[in-house]
Amino acid sequence: MRNIVITGASGGIGKAIAERLLLEGNKLSLGIRKPISLQGGRLDPKKSTNNILLNQYEATDKESIANWIDNTINSFGSIDTVIHCAGIFHKTSINFSEEEEYQIKELWETNVLGPWLLTRAVWKELQKKRNSRIITLVSMSGKRSKGSLAGYTATKFALMGLCQTIRNEGWDSGIRVTTISPSWVNTKMANEVNSIDKSQMTQPEDIASIVSNILKLPNSCIPFDISVNCNLEI
Ligand SMILES: NC(=O)c1ccc[n+]([C@@H]2O[C@H](COP(=O)([O-])OP(=O)(O)OC[C@H]3O[C@@H](n4cnc5c(N)ncnc54)[C@H](OP(=O)(O)O)[C@@H]3O)[C@@H](O)[C@H]2O)c1
Repeated sequence: MRNIVITGASGGIGKAIAERLLLEGNKLSLGIRKPISLQGGRLDPKKSTNNILLNQYEATDKESIANWIDNTINSFGSIDTVIHCAGIFHKTSINFSEEEEYQIKELWETNVLGPWLLTRAVWKELQKKRNSRIITLVSMSGKRSKGSLAGYTATKFALMGLCQTIRNEGWDSGIRVTTISPSWVNTKMANEVNSIDKSQMTQPEDIASIVSNILKLPNSCIPFDISVNCNLEI
């Protein structure tokens, strides 16, 4: 059983991961922009004895991160796993308009600085254990560039670089890092994608299954990057 903090659990991949890990008996502390959005669902703390904690979390707000982590340590006693799922997508191309400039800043703050700040806030806790885990949803866009998604792609490459460095710095304390890099996953983020049928995309529950398996592996067998393609890329 692990004490896990998860971002992005209000929907999509993060929610599927949280539901799976809850069923498997872990303790979950969920960082959510609007905690009320989970009311009545499977992740409603009222439905699960003491295994779920909901906290207000905004990726760009350091104070919300500090409060969330303090609250989690007070309730669970420790944290041994972080799962970064929160992220945003904009189609910002190289020749962005003046109006689109804000999207670039928002992408960097949410997709790169967000996971960085949270990792830093929880680092000392993770170091106390000898088998902590950090799992980050990167993307195939963090490994190759397709089309003209300059804004999103640049942040995902940067996130991949950040995760490699986190792996380096955490190795001696037993912290193991995994990046998961899917192409299209059938969530709100892929709503507008028409090039592939939604049923043919990777499903969020399948990513949850990968995460569940990673958490069962020992320090000596943790994959660093898992690429997940729902379509052939050559
Ligand atoms: N779907 C895909 O095809 C795909 C492919 C490759 C990689 N990914 C990556 O997988 C991760 C999860 O994506 P998804 O498909 O599950 O997307 P999603 O359904 O749009 O969910 C995104 C999650 O991130 C949260 N979030 C966004 N901005 C935030 C902020 N500033 N502070 C706190 N939370 C914030 C959202 O919260 P709210 O509900 O409050 O908005 C939501 O819970 C992302 O990093 C994404 O880049 C997705």
